Amino acid sequence: MNILRGKSIRQLVANFRNEYITHGLDESRMAGDPIEQFETWFHEAVKARLPEPNAMHLATVSPQGAPSGRFMLLKGFDDRGFQFYTHYNSRKGNELAENPQAAITFLWMELFRSVRIEGSIAPLPASQSDEYFQSRPRSSQLGAWASAQSRPLASRAELDQRFRELEKKFEGQPIPRPATWGGYLLTPVRIEFWQGRVSRLHDRIVYTREAEASWKRERLNP
Ligand SMILES: Cc1cc2nc3c(=O)[nH]c(=O)nc-3n(C[C@H](O)[C@H](O)[C@H](O)COP(=O)(O)O)c2cc1C
Repeated sequence: MNILRGKSIRQLVANFRNEYITHGLDESRMAGDPIEQFETWFHEAVKARLPEPNAMHLATVSPQGAPSGRFMLLKGFDDRGFQFYTHYNSRKGNELAENPQAAITFLWMELFRSVRIEGSIAPLPASQSDEYFQSRPRSSQLGAWASAQSRPLASRAELDQRFRELEKKFEGQPIPRPATWGGYLLTPVRIEFWQGRVSRLHDRIVYTREAEASWKRERLNP
């Protein structure tokens, strides 16, 4: 079947339009603490066997105020916030060093759900990054050493060659964490839960941090 029906994909992009038929969000059934609510939704995304349920978009901002975004994997969350790992001197790492604020966004499309989280950023303690690095497969550990993330690379062959050299260098030994690779903690100040509904009348419940462990909860227009 020709799904384009004689049109180009550019002409059709505005036509993708599904109704989101779901049960919606009832404030009285949502947790008082948004991290507890996130845990419930994340668990539901895992139970629904979504691919990469911990994939999230991370937005950072340059010192000039220009935003940039990329996908990342969430590697942990608890009452303090949300954790991810990367290269500290990558583009995002440099932006976070200059402006330690970020936004992460999850999309669980099969459930018609999204979560938006905003807050401040700080590197995780070195001991926690070490522990996570040691839990990674050896090939990923070598990959972290091999990549000068976000910098220009002359060819794929150069990267593969560097990887092979590192394999030799560390043969038979444990691989230490590069000092330029590690984790960040995003401490949330705002967390929004979005549930798609019919007629684009979606439910949006936003939690805003008012004090250390106190959150204000509001419903927003879709
Ligand atoms: C689904 C998905 C998950 C990713 N997870 C990570 C991650 O956890 N850490 C990371 O450094 N890059 C991850 N990447 C690669 C980033 O999107 C990005 O290419 C890289 O971090 C460089 O970004 P930057 O140049 O803006 O710093 C992931 C990409 C995708 C598509």
